[in-house]
Amino acid sequence: MKKLLVVALLIAFAATAAFAADVVTFEAKNGNVTFQHKAHGEKLGCDACHEGTPAKIAIDKKTAHKMCKSCHKAKGVSTSCKTCHKK
Ligand code: HEC
Ligand code: HEC
Ligand code: HEC
Repeated sequence: MKKLLVVALLIAFAATAAFAADVVTFEAKNGNVTFQHKAHGEKLGCDACHEGTPAKIAIDKKTAHKMCKSCHKAKGVSTSCKTCHKK
């Protein structure tokens, strides 16, 4: 019984991971932002952004800059507007 549950959880986890989008586009009036989700995950590991089992992270206009730019700053990646916003 316990074993079955573990298997079910593993399948559920695999299914979620498989459905994570490779690329996410955030619409912004000053130029849409293409977020290379898969590439970020491969380079940084899921833990860099997700706590525990990766799941939906709510990104909106208020939280996006805090999340995206703070790490870019820390890692020495450009935070100029054009790095993310493309017209
Ligand atoms: C640089 C930060 C970052 C990294 C690293 C990252 N993710 Fe994410 N992940 C996000 C963001 C932001 C979202 C929300 C995207 C959206 O709004 O559609 C997300 C969403 C998801 C979702 C939910 C998808 C949905 O639409 O419900 C899953 C599952 C997920 N990530 C899995 C992973 C896995 C597995 C890894 C490691 C291989 C990973 N993520 C690495 C930032 C990251
Ligand atoms: C935990 C750290 C981290 C977070 C959070 C993060 N990034 Fe990044 N991002 C990086 C790193 C490191 C690179 C450089 C990758 C490389 O050079 O291979 C990068 C590169 C990029 C690039 C390409 C930059 C270039 O010069 O070509 C874009 C665009 C980008 N990120 C968008 C985003 C967006 C949008 C978000 C938020 C949804 C985000 N990133 C969140 C670490 C992060
Ligand atoms: C690291 C990536 C990144 C950088 C650098 C960045 N942005 Fe953003 N920005 C985003 C993301 C992601 C969103 C969220 C869009 C959403 O949730 O729809 C956003 C949203 C916005 C919005 C809201 C757009 C709307 O339609 O309401 C404005 C305005 C904005 N950014 C301006 C800027 C300016 C100005 C700069 C340069 C000083 C900048 N951004 C740099 C990623 C970035």
